[in-house]
Amino acid sequence: MKKAVVERLKEKHNKEWFEETGPEFTIQISMLKDVAVLTIDTSGAGLHKRGYREAGGEAPLKETLAAALVLLSFWDADRLLIDPMCGSGTIPIEAAMIARHIAPGLQRGFASEKWPVIDEDYWSESRLAARDVIIPVHKLQLFGYDIDAKSIEVCKSNATIAGVEDVILFERKDIRDLWIDKQYGIVISNPPYGVRMSDFKDINEIYIAINKAFRKKWGWSLYILTADELFPSYFKRARPDRVRKLYNGNIKVNYYQYYGDRPTENDMPDQPNSTEGDGSA
Ligand SMILES: C[S@@+](CC[C@H](N)C(=O)[O-])C[C@H]1O[C@@H](n2cnc3c(N)ncnc32)[C@H](O)[C@@H]1O
Repeated sequence: MKKAVVERLKEKHNKEWFEETGPEFTIQISMLKDVAVLTIDTSGAGLHKRGYREAGGEAPLKETLAAALVLLSFWDADRLLIDPMCGSGTIPIEAAMIARHIAPGLQRGFASEKWPVIDEDYWSESRLAARDVIIPVHKLQLFGYDIDAKSIEVCKSNATIAGVEDVILFERKDIRDLWIDKQYGIVISNPPYGVRMSDFKDINEIYIAINKAFRKKWGWSLYILTADELFPSYFKRARPDRVRKLYNGNIKVNYYQYYGDRPTENDMPDQPNSTEGDGSA
């Protein structure tokens, strides 16, 4: 393909040789039967790379998938959201960015920024316009927990780069110690999915902990992304209202959605700043 492009350039510019200097233009070709479609990649690194996740955790979700999980849920900025196995914090960070209207590409560069055909001013004006629409929401109820202390450090650093560290509380916590004393909250999480026999005991304990945390809770919604098709048979509280088939990278996964109840205005408490309770709920 490169040769074909060079041949056309030679014809057009009446030149025999082209230096390979200057910015990169990635051309992709896709063919179906006898139709070829040529595209030029304006982005460079995949669009899921927002630029805030310098350090990964254990099996981090793509940022785009985490954002989709939030958008497919009933969460909005007035409701409490917990990811009790948050890894590198992608789900709460994406929720905070959505609530604050932070454009997902604001922190990153794009391959086409170096192309002379696009005036630099467009980029700076677009970035200014995107900064202008950010809304300074300070009272979100977003919580990310993980059993792994190092992951929590990673979450805090990622949230700082994303500019949302002030609205998310990240804490080291085992899901077996999760106690929820608020009503009408939303849990969105992707638990570890084990392939080794030794993992199964841990996963079973995680499922027991999810059941326990949800016992006697009204209105809570649960959204679980997992490749484990047995999850619904372990979560005994309800049947999923909807199961969406998605891909996490190239792993086929299901997004189990348990809607819970919608809160009425009277049900919405004042904005709390912790999910820790006195155990009396
Ligand atoms: C698949 S990863 C979650 C990835 C995360 N969604 C992200 O985007 O980075 C599962 C996480 O569950 C955590 N985990 C495992 N057992 C746990 C437990 N008992 N309590 C809390 N977290 C646990 C692991 O440390 C790991 O970070």
